[in-house]
Amino acid sequence: MVDVSVIVPTYNERENLPVLAKRLDKAMGKAGISYELVVVDDNSPDGTAEVARNLKLEHGKVKVVVRKDERGLASAVMKGFEVAEGKYFVVMDADLQHPPEVVPELVKRLKEDCDLVIASRYSKEGRIEEWNFVRKVISKGATILAKLLVPATKYTTDPMSGFFALKREVVERAKLPLNPLGYKILLELLAKGSFEKVCEVPYVFGKRLAGESKLGGRVMLEYLIHLMKLAKETGELNRMLTFAAVGASGIVVNEGALYAVYELLGAKSLGALGLAAAGLAGFEASVVYNFLLHERVTFKDRRKGSVVKRFLHYEAASVLGAAAQLAFLLGLTYAGVHYLISNLIGIVVGLGIRYSYSATKAWPA
Ligand code: GDD
Ligand code: MN
Repeated sequence: MVDVSVIVPTYNERENLPVLAKRLDKAMGKAGISYELVVVDDNSPDGTAEVARNLKLEHGKVKVVVRKDERGLASAVMKGFEVAEGKYFVVMDADLQHPPEVVPELVKRLKEDCDLVIASRYSKEGRIEEWNFVRKVISKGATILAKLLVPATKYTTDPMSGFFALKREVVERAKLPLNPLGYKILLELLAKGSFEKVCEVPYVFGKRLAGESKLGGRVMLEYLIHLMKLAKETGELNRMLTFAAVGASGIVVNEGALYAVYELLGAKSLGALGLAAAGLAGFEASVVYNFLLHERVTFKDRRKGSVVKRFLHYEAASVLGAAAQLAFLLGLTYAGVHYLISNLIGIVVGLGIRYSYSATKAWPA
């Protein structure tokens, strides 16, 4: 039995794999770690599997799995988990964007007391060498979305990393069954894996040695579907729907308070000013009502610290949401969109802002 199984998914990496194997072997030999290299290839047309079978390592052994009727990075890694014999698993890409010299450091942290060690591009000293502006924006946007839909991403600065190490138990004792989809196996592990301590090691995401990235439009779409599935499985989607339902029920409170102040308390006699005051009262009544329900229902598992602070954050979320709603109504209508459509877009944007603000500031995971 080996200590570490290094799992490398490959698709058309004929030129890269031998370089990776050589550098990895050297690093592991130097650190005195016993390991196996598990290559999971999806029958690459460039003959990567053949190259993998012919690899000669000085300090470790090679295992090659070829999948003929399945494709996909995350499912390939899962396949690697199945055949791996090590006590510890390391997952990394074949194209040398993940420096093999970092692997011993990941393993060392596992041997200390970490259950999951993530090599991060965003922690101190971490960096990305070659990405253009668009790819950086996409990556940031994807990270923000993940934060909302998969709160377990809070454990790391780089939940999209494809370079990480874990104890075998993280997979074997997972809290929910793992359904790999798309590229982001780490998200799946963060959301469902069994772990206590997550650690991070910085690294510089280098240039691809040879060949090209397989990340395209399809991968991005799969990513969104993956996030939604994870949100559904872990209950986060329910939380969002509850949030929206509470908000909708608040309309009744808002209208009721408006009516009461305007008609029954006599604000009507003050004219426009009275109407504005009654409108504000209606808004505030619904904010308080929503807050109480979010405390008791939507975010009942996330009440931390001072209730006053939570309320002030929720108030800010509501004001921001309302302001955005109004801005969209006016902006889009004057840009030529029908006012009812503008308002509808405003409502959705406002809801999105209220939720993201609430879920990150008032009731953070
Ligand atoms: N078996 C198999 N099947 N392997 C695949 C497949 C597939 O369908 N698609 C890609 N791979 C392998 C590639 O051969 C490579 O070893 C690794 O998965 C990463 O693929 P790239 O195409 O190089 O991805 P990237 O550089 O754009 O993004 C990578 O790095 C990011 C940062 O760590 C991925 O690992 C991302 O998930 C990660 O966010
Ligand atoms: Mn790559």
